Amino acid sequence: MSYRIATAVLLALTIVFAGAGLVQGQSDKPTAEKKEVKKEETKKDEAKKDEANKEAEKAEDPPLTSKEFHDLMEDMKKAWNRLKIHARNKMGDKAAEAADELAALAAKARRYDGEVLTGENKGKKARDQKDFQDWCKAMEDAAREYAAQAKKSKWDKADAQKDKINETCGACHDVYQPEEDE
Ligand code: HEC
Repeated sequence: MSYRIATAVLLALTIVFAGAGLVQGQSDKPTAEKKEVKKEETKKDEAKKDEANKEAEKAEDPPLTSKEFHDLMEDMKKAWNRLKIHARNKMGDKAAEAADELAALAAKARRYDGEVLTGENKGKKARDQKDFQDWCKAMEDAAREYAAQAKKSKWDKADAQKDKINETCGACHDVYQPEEDE
């Protein structure tokens, strides 16, 4: 191979690399901007996710501490009492508001960290049991349906859902509420 050809090749390569470097340099800014936009979009996505989680606190979220769950049940009692009072006074929108709150609390209750108290599953996590999750779901569904009916002042239909909500409290407590907390 001749010396001249080698030089030519080297020169060509140099030009190619220099060109690439130039293009790289020029595209630096737009890339940074693109990154910024992407960041913004990711942030937006995360905000959306947060909202979805708030709506229906996912089972993958960390378990509630004992205090968080006690507070949740206290809030549940208050929302339930509010619902009953507003229902008695035929205040549809207010009753619906209380029911929406109950639905959100029921979804959150899925993350209870307590254990199965008796039987063959004793000591296992309550939240991993089908009946526990079913009662949370039943309460959430009934509360949402209640809210829809109460808003329309369809009190017969709302009352049927109210009974369902009430049943889930007792059913779940019978199995999962420790005696000393009564
Ligand atoms: C899916 C199960 C479940 C449902 C449904 C449920 N609870 Fe509870 N609740 C529990 C458990 C478990 C405890 C006991 C918590 C503990 O002692 O660690 C409890 C405890 C309570 C307590 C005692 C407060 C405390 O600090 O522990 C109140 C009040 C209460 N629940 C109200 C309600 C009301 C009102 C409803 C229905 C509108 C309801 N709960 C529905 C599981 C449930």
